[in-house]
Amino acid sequence: MPAQIIDGKAIAETVRNQVAAETQRLIRDTGIVPHLAAVLVGNDPASEVYVRNKERACQKAGLRSTLHRLSTATTQADLLELIAALNHDMSVHGILVQLPLPKHLDSTQILDAILPTKDVDAFHPENTGLMLQGRPRFVPCTPAGVMKMLEVSKVPTAGRHAVVIGRSDIVGKPMAALLVQKGIDATVTICHSRTADIGAVCRTADILIAAVGIPEFVKGDMLKPGAVVIDVGINRVNERLVGDVDFVAACAVASAITPVPGGVGPMTIAMLLLNTLKSARMMHRLS
Ligand code: GUN
Repeated sequence: MPAQIIDGKAIAETVRNQVAAETQRLIRDTGIVPHLAAVLVGNDPASEVYVRNKERACQKAGLRSTLHRLSTATTQADLLELIAALNHDMSVHGILVQLPLPKHLDSTQILDAILPTKDVDAFHPENTGLMLQGRPRFVPCTPAGVMKMLEVSKVPTAGRHAVVIGRSDIVGKPMAALLVQKGIDATVTICHSRTADIGAVCRTADILIAAVGIPEFVKGDMLKPGAVVIDVGINRVNERLVGDVDFVAACAVASAITPVPGGVGPMTIAMLLLNTLKSARMMHRLS
C-alpha cells in the first residue's frame, strides 16, 4: 500500500486558524495586537520569498507585521542598532532576522543580540537551553512544526527509533532534543556527514527525519518498511522544489510521508505565528 501523505498544508491551516481566532480574542479583550518585526538584509531571492510568505501569513491571521529591509552593505553595527531598537520597542513582540545573512555579518552575534523574550525563531542560546531542559519558552519553528505533524497524524513515538539526518542548530539538534523529551520518549540517533554507513542506520528508523539539505539524499532502500518519513528539505533543482527524500521511491516503502512542497514548509510559518502570539501574551503577563 502506498504511503499515507501527511498534509502539512492542511495541518498548518488548522494551526493558523487557531492563531487567528485567539488573536482576535486577544485584540477584543485587551487591544494588544501581536506584532512580528522581520529583518531582511540584502536580496537573496529565496529569503525574499520566505519573508513575503511570513508577512502574508501574519496579515491573514490578524497579526501585525513590519518588514525592515536593509541593503547588502549594512554593517554589523547598523544591524545591532536596529535590533536594540526593536528590543526596546514595546509594540514589538517577535523579532526575526532572516537567514542567511550576507557573509560579512556575524550571524551568531546578531542572533544573540535579540532579546530572548522576543526571539520567536528560538535561536537564542537561552531559549535553546530552556527547550533542552524540557521547559520551553519558544520552540524553533521547523522542529515544532514536525512535532505538531507527528501529533496530529497520531504517529507513535514512545520507544520508537527516530533517526534525524542533519545536525544544524536550526533543525537537526533541536529536533533530536524534542523527540527525546519526556512524554515523547523516542530513542534518538543523529546522523551527519561523518556517520559511518548512514544507510544502515536509517534502515533501523521507525521515524526518519531528513534535514540534510541534499536533494533526494534518502533513497527507498535506506528506509525500513513502514517507516514514517518527514522531509524537511527544500531544495531548488531546475526551478523545481525537491526534498531531501526521493519521494516516489519512499512512497513505496514508507507508511506515511510528508511531501515537498506542502509538507513541513507551511508548518514552519504556522508555528512562527503561534510563537508570536505566545510572546505577546507573555509580554503582557497573560497566560
Ligand atoms: N532561514 C531558513 N530558515 C529560517 C528560519 O526558520 N528562520 C530564519 N530567521 N531564517 C531562516
